[in-house]
Amino acid sequence: TNIGVFFGGRSTEHEISVISASQAMHAVDREKYDVTPIYITKQGHWYTGEALFDVANYRNIPELLKKCTEVYMKPVYGDFNLYRAASSGMFGPKGPVARLDVVIPVLHGSNGEDGIFEGVLETIGIPYAGCNTLSSANGMDKITMKMIMQACDIPVVDYVWFTDKEWYARRDAIIDKIEMKLGYPVIVKPANLGSSVGISRVSDRKELIEKVEIAEKYSTRIIVEHMVDNLKEINCSVLGDCDDYQTSVCEEPIKSGSILSYEDKYMGGTKSAKGMQASQKRIPADLPIEMSERIRFLAGETFRVLSCHGVSRVDVIVDDDTNEIFVNEINTIPGSLSFYLWEASGISFDRLMDTLVKLALK
Ligand code: DAL
Ligand code: MG
Repeated sequence: TNIGVFFGGRSTEHEISVISASQAMHAVDREKYDVTPIYITKQGHWYTGEALFDVANYRNIPELLKKCTEVYMKPVYGDFNLYRAASSGMFGPKGPVARLDVVIPVLHGSNGEDGIFEGVLETIGIPYAGCNTLSSANGMDKITMKMIMQACDIPVVDYVWFTDKEWYARRDAIIDKIEMKLGYPVIVKPANLGSSVGISRVSDRKELIEKVEIAEKYSTRIIVEHMVDNLKEINCSVLGDCDDYQTSVCEEPIKSGSILSYEDKYMGGTKSAKGMQASQKRIPADLPIEMSERIRFLAGETFRVLSCHGVSRVDVIVDDDTNEIFVNEINTIPGSLSFYLWEASGISFDRLMDTLVKLALK
């Protein structure tokens, strides 16, 4: 079985995806599976080659790409082949460079985790790991996701949402609504990005205006959420099908600012980019058993109502004053596919990859 691992992509989370995919590819049991890396550049071009396995090579992308072959994917009599893309266009003269049996998308954020890439795979009919287009899209859009969860009695924090056009057309009315429904402080987020990109905490009207105008650069839809004063973030991973899944132990990521930043998450609190493992986390999170059970239940429910598949990570907020739990978001392609939560739950990284392949081929 040859696994095509797709990563990189046209996303603000491109670099994290490279780290996640590199860890995932190295975790695959090579006695059992072959792995073909397919790197999607920030411009959307696809490349394959041995050089893609070494994360150090990504420091110089032009050099890296010189060692790789530009490819595209095409179904041929039920097989899925990667073909050499000729520089003059997609239809190169040479034969296939690899046959793929199954795809594992390790793309974070837009054009990958949002269902768009999964749609490409659906169109040509290749089996793939993880969520389908519908659950990916619902999970990625913070507004749609919250609407579904509210309809299914999963607790979420209060919010107000609007589009960029609406903001510029009737800003004062939207601000009134935010102040009446939520008060300050609030969190401003683009509706469809991950990894804290474009997210700001806001404590007055002036800041609100400033930060909405930042968020609006990333997304046409914006969500403003009530900010829980005293909170901890807890994450829990879910593995399986929406009607048959298991949940991992919980983790508490450790933050250095008032919102977990991109640096907290991926760079161990520094700008020195050591990757996922360098970030600070407490695993298992130090919680009373009833609370971790409740969080695991809500994580599973979130996975279920969104019709997820494969592996996801559900991030919740615990209000330290009231002990209330709110589901904050789901990551349908979590960083390094949340191997560290599964390791702590007794499932090794290679078994996690094996499970993802089996779920995809089921
Ligand atoms: N979106 C990133 C990769 C995560 O939350 O895991
Ligand atoms: Mg998150």
